[in-house]
Amino acid sequence: MNTDVIKISSIEESQRDLAKAASIIKNGGLVAFPTETVYGLGADATNPDAAAKIYAAKGRPSDNPLIIHICEPNEAERYTYTTALYYKIAEHFMPGPITVVMKSRSCIPGCTRGGLDTVAVRCPENKIARELIRLSGVPIAAPSANLSGSPSPTCAEHVIKDMLGRCDMIIDGGACSVGLESTIVRIDSDDTVTLLRPGKVTAADLRSLGINVLISHAVTEELGSDERVESPGMKYKHYAPKKPFYLLDGDIESCVEFIKSKQEKNIGIIAYSEDVEYLKNNVPNLVIYEFGAKDNCEEQAQRLFDLLRRADSEAIELLYAPLPVVEGIGLALYNRMIRAAAHNIIRL
Ligand code: TXA
Ligand code: MG
Repeated sequence: MNTDVIKISSIEESQRDLAKAASIIKNGGLVAFPTETVYGLGADATNPDAAAKIYAAKGRPSDNPLIIHICEPNEAERYTYTTALYYKIAEHFMPGPITVVMKSRSCIPGCTRGGLDTVAVRCPENKIARELIRLSGVPIAAPSANLSGSPSPTCAEHVIKDMLGRCDMIIDGGACSVGLESTIVRIDSDDTVTLLRPGKVTAADLRSLGINVLISHAVTEELGSDERVESPGMKYKHYAPKKPFYLLDGDIESCVEFIKSKQEKNIGIIAYSEDVEYLKNNVPNLVIYEFGAKDNCEEQAQRLFDLLRRADSEAIELLYAPLPVVEGIGLALYNRMIRAAAHNIIRL
């Protein structure tokens, strides 16, 4: 398949290209587009054949449902049975990096929702994404635009690497500002949600509105092999670098001692900015990937997937990273990193 790659700097100057992208969506094709979280691989959510193409392009299991992207929060009305709690969440966090799971209406085909009776709805903030949805006139089903099992793409180069030849168009809208996928909550009752995937909108943000937030244990723990999961995506090993990847739980001095004791030649480490000099001075030949300042989880979130991809493409045999603190968006980092590391934590 021939893939058009188009670069968009301003919505106004790119109306022709965006109209072309929208017509691809309307005609059942695939367009990769930027959102503020990660790039998505989009298709018409109401067209089962189009949704099926997404699964094929990603190599994604067909029981792992897709998020549908809408342009305005009240469009959820057409596709789901909304509640007052949905509107409370929407009023405070939409458009933005949050996805809400509700009971689906029948206009969303089973293929889009992986056979479930619920559907996940998200109203992204990114202007290109919103204009594409608006011009398409349909909800856009879009998972992250990576091959199944590799880290989500946070810039067009990542999408090009995974999806060139697998979709009709890739829209390059620059780097994603958040860098981790949206927070996913399921509405359970009039005042309670379950957090299925942590993201930039935190449990504390939701609780500050008086909402009860239960946290699915799959967010921080390893699932049993025959356990029933609340969100199908949780059972798949995600975000996995190809190299063995371990999280180090200890201060930088014990990390250095530990790494020095290893025999492997080419070791990579994701390190806080404050620790880079110390590592350089104490471990020769270490490949260092700068994660950002220790207390700046937003910066770390923005960089994580790019660093994992870089580590994958370079000649290192082993990768380490610090175990993140489980606070605020740190919970989202922790969730992605323990899964990338297949729960391998080394306590120092
Ligand atoms: O930030 C994001 O959410 C990005 C951008 C493109 O919007 N999308 C994204 O999609 O991360 P994806 O498919 O990579 O992850 C969606 C997750 C999957 O783990 C899936 O299992 C879960 O959402 N999900 C989708 N529909 C669901 C439902 N009805 N019930 C529970 N979980 C659902
Ligand atoms: Mg994904």
